[in-house]
Amino acid sequence: MTKTVKPFLAALHGETQARPPIWLMRQAGRYLEEYREVRKNVSGFLELCYTPELACEVTLQPIRRFGFDAAIMFSDILVLPDALGQEVTFVEGEGPKLAPIRNGSDLSKLSADWIHQRLEPVYEAITLMKQRLPDQTALIGFAGAPWTVATYMIEGGSSKDFANTKAWAFQNPNSFQDLINLVADATADYLCAQVDQGVEAVQLFDSWAGVLPEDAFARWVIEPTKRIVDRFKQRHPDIPFIGFPRGAGINYPAYVEATGVTAVGLDTTVPTKWAAETLQKKLPVQGNLDPQVLLAGGDMLDQSVGRILENLQDGPFIFNLGHGIIKETPVSHVERLMNLVRGRV
Ligand code: CP3
Repeated sequence: MTKTVKPFLAALHGETQARPPIWLMRQAGRYLEEYREVRKNVSGFLELCYTPELACEVTLQPIRRFGFDAAIMFSDILVLPDALGQEVTFVEGEGPKLAPIRNGSDLSKLSADWIHQRLEPVYEAITLMKQRLPDQTALIGFAGAPWTVATYMIEGGSSKDFANTKAWAFQNPNSFQDLINLVADATADYLCAQVDQGVEAVQLFDSWAGVLPEDAFARWVIEPTKRIVDRFKQRHPDIPFIGFPRGAGINYPAYVEATGVTAVGLDTTVPTKWAAETLQKKLPVQGNLDPQVLLAGGDMLDQSVGRILENLQDGPFIFNLGHGIIKETPVSHVERLMNLVRGRV
């Protein structure tokens, strides 16, 4: 029997569908009680990421519950700095903590030589996911983009103003470039290895792309992304590559044009009619329901979903949020969203 093409992959190959495929960023996580159950039995978040059986289990949970068209492998963008030799921990209730690097001489603490050894549990988890996912469900791999990953490496965690990162980038652009290149090449190799294990598409999360002035956006967002896409496409020309430059605003067209991504993720603030005319004529788009609207539910949810569908479903489109799901989101709101997008209401 020939297998039909998975709807998620069909959209990435440019197909317009009567009902768009759907998955949600951070669809595995704390809003699910079955996730919290698994989570409380491990000592830390990274242990969950590095235990193939558990990473596989939490990847499958939202698929079982909601039947999304794609699963995203359960991991985190910060496993890469960990694999490069930087100390990474996740502190309960506070988020990630890294032993910060601050200048060119700190680069000697990092090495890309061992990343595949350290990331072996991720690759094993992908093998398990491939065995256990339903036939119609695609598997997405991912990594953080160099700029965004660098902000965590330099600030030592989450940040409001990225002061240390910008100080390094603006005062010593040459050594900052060395860091970005190191992360970019390791990221390309990591994404390629994920494909070798079986992921069918990849997404590059540039969560903090929107905080840079235009010349810095070109140098630290567009250029490293293009470097990764080029290196990736050399080895895997047919695997779709989704770029997600969150907050890029009016820079979205330049990003799409210059990086060569296969598809682009729209953040919450991107007007969908504009995206249909400006971006979707050139490539498939994904997005962009506000996670706060999903949290709110009610008429606001119905109307917002209706408007996104109306504006984007006449071209290649994947329904998603504009950023990750919020942990207080009621499961019933996600069920309602599925029914709206699948046309069951
Ligand atoms: O379901 C999925 O989407 C796959 C898993 C996934 C996680 N993180 C799991 C996670 C993905 C794709 C990410 C990406 C990620 N991680 C990004 C890019 C997307 C974005 O949100 O902007 C970033 C910036 C990170 C870094 C990170 N990881 C932070 C800042 C935090 C702490 C904030 C928080 O929500 O607690 C994490 C932790 C994290 N990553 C959790 C999960 C499920 C929660 C930790 C826990 O369960 O204890």
